[in-house]
Amino acid sequence: MAMSFETIKIERLAGALGAEISGVDLAKPLGNQTFQEIHDALVENQVIFFRDQDITPDQHKDFGRRFGTLHIHPAMGGIPGHPEILPLHSDAEKQYSANGWHSDVSCDPVPNMGAILLAKVLPDTGGDTMFASMNAAYEGLSGKMQHFLSGLEAHHGSVHLFGPSRHENDKRPNAVHPVIRTHPVSGRPCIYVNSSFTTHIVGMKPKESRAVLDFLYRHIETPEYHVRFRWAVNSIAFWDNRSTQHRAIADYFPQTRTMHRVTINGTEAPFYRPH
Ligand SMILES: [Fe+2]
Repeated sequence: MAMSFETIKIERLAGALGAEISGVDLAKPLGNQTFQEIHDALVENQVIFFRDQDITPDQHKDFGRRFGTLHIHPAMGGIPGHPEILPLHSDAEKQYSANGWHSDVSCDPVPNMGAILLAKVLPDTGGDTMFASMNAAYEGLSGKMQHFLSGLEAHHGSVHLFGPSRHENDKRPNAVHPVIRTHPVSGRPCIYVNSSFTTHIVGMKPKESRAVLDFLYRHIETPEYHVRFRWAVNSIAFWDNRSTQHRAIADYFPQTRTMHRVTINGTEAPFYRPH
């Protein structure tokens, strides 16, 4: 995708994905040109980073709303007065738990398109987040393996992660999605199974499904498909949840780390289109 940017600056951070964006103040409403450039930079780089964005919860939500309606987590509550802002907090009492590779809430029938994570409180060292390009991981497979996987679907669930539902609004979604999904904007194929939500590949014997998923999870761990982001307070990571997976590095216990996440609803169920 050839692109020229008039209002923002972009520095690519790794071969497979990731770019730092400068020249924009997210506390101010985005002009249409700047919005379009950030949107295109997100699709192309799959995860984009911003520094020194001292924004309020309302400004955080306004930025997210430029990209779609905001997602409310099916099982976890928001910060006071802002159900759309998911706090991710860990400290000496509450160790970080989501430190496996995943895309967020892939158990939803229409999973979210992306999330905007803002660092509020950080440990002195540690607490980086890693991102992996699921398009680069797909391209790293042989043609035979790409062909084999492209015909498959996998089940994604959430009871095993969030426990049983506690009340009527506390949902435990599940869904069947293609193992390889076509990115709806770029058209690129992306691996779409993850070790947190995917339970099994449909129509396979359990040990076949386990072997294929374990192979893919090891493949996704290849460092050439990754970028690692070192946070500072008021840094933002905005990832495309359709083309990436991420994992937090839980190496700072018992220090405190608090992040705010605004998540943007997807607009279509994952699909696969032969290319
Ligand atoms: Fe996540």
